[in-house]
Amino acid sequence: MPAEAPPEAASSRPLPEGFLPSNCTYAEQDWPILARQWFPVCRADDALARPRQVMVLNLRLVVYRMPDGIRVGRDMCPHRGLPLSGGRVEGEELVCAYHGLRFGSDGQCTKVPEKLAPKTADCFKVTMFPAVERHGLVWTCLIPDAGPEVPDGTSDSPFKLSSDRFAESMVFEFLDSSMIVEPENHQSLKKLGLSEYQRLLEEIGFSSETSSSPSPFS
Ligand code: FES
Repeated sequence: MPAEAPPEAASSRPLPEGFLPSNCTYAEQDWPILARQWFPVCRADDALARPRQVMVLNLRLVVYRMPDGIRVGRDMCPHRGLPLSGGRVEGEELVCAYHGLRFGSDGQCTKVPEKLAPKTADCFKVTMFPAVERHGLVWTCLIPDAGPEVPDGTSDSPFKLSSDRFAESMVFEFLDSSMIVEPENHQSLKKLGLSEYQRLLEEIGFSSETSSSPSPFS
């Protein structure tokens, strides 16, 4: 059975209200709408022996495997902001490569090296996102509204997924939208969302197609 993130990880809002990645290439009003969708970040069967950096909607994420499942966090150590993807997993902890802070499964710092005293572990927490394994892929959502709603054609997601793992191809269809957006903005959001899916899937090594069904806003 695929491992899923604990429900509380999927229901909390990891990023502060109004957050935008630095050097964001999306319009300020589009990014938070797209960030509520689920995006694939890697193959579920990737060994992930070392933490890996992926980019979703201009935000750098770190993906790694803990003994109890895959984790997706912001690729930014809360100590000095350096990438956690340069670190390593030791037992049940992610260890930052720079000054050796250790983080548990929930992103909370568990140990600060003595040289950094008087700072304590309570001071540091990695921003974590939900991680769900489905359709042979690992998915995450940057602004989860509720529980996991990975595209599968049955949820309320505006994207429908048809996959053929053996053919290594995936088709994403943009259904009539449940996104709350202004009609004049709808077309561009559809294109932005689909191109992000396509980019990520190609990066993962799948050929992908995207298509869109007629919409009242088209
Ligand atoms: S930047 Fe990670 S421990 Fe200092």
